Amino acid sequence: MNTTSLIAAFVVVVSGLIWAGTQSNNADWTGNRNQCVGECYEDWKAANGGGIADVETAKQVALAAASPEALGEKYYGQCIACHGSRGEGGIGPMLAGQAGSDIVAKLTAYRAGEERGAQSAMMYPVAKPMTDADIDNLAAYVSAL
Ligand code: HEC
Repeated sequence: MNTTSLIAAFVVVVSGLIWAGTQSNNADWTGNRNQCVGECYEDWKAANGGGIADVETAKQVALAAASPEALGEKYYGQCIACHGSRGEGGIGPMLAGQAGSDIVAKLTAYRAGEERGAQSAMMYPVAKPMTDADIDNLAAYVSAL
């Protein structure tokens, strides 16, 4: 056998393997959903309320329509460890019962690196990435606790 026919035989075998692989594509196998087209994709759309783009748009719309309180609740997830799930306090002071305007003023001060209590340093990294909207949302949620 010369080199050319060896290469030809190799190409035929590999192509055959690839073809066999695509023929036995079982959609039930995890991670093997790359062939969800046609009927499969129509089923997916029916189950998920639209195509991939529609689902993404719906998520964005829901986020934009969410109340400040709901957005604040989401953000508050990272405060629970120190302030308690009901704002009852723990490592950090009690937040429940504080007015929204106080929460805004305090978070704005921490964000600016101002010292308030003896442990303000614990709040600097927490407040630093907050936008004004984040602070307003958190205040809306916390003041309702
Ligand atoms: C690592 C623990 C920790 C985390 C996480 C944390 N805090 Fe704090 N927080 C503290 C401590 C400690 C203080 C007291 C700081 C001081 O001495 O000034 C404080 C103070 C505060 C105060 C001022 C309270 C007052 O009455 O003086 C507010 C408001 C506050 N935190 C909000 C939040 C919010 C909102 C989050 C989540 C985004 C958060 N904190 C996450 C520990 C934490």
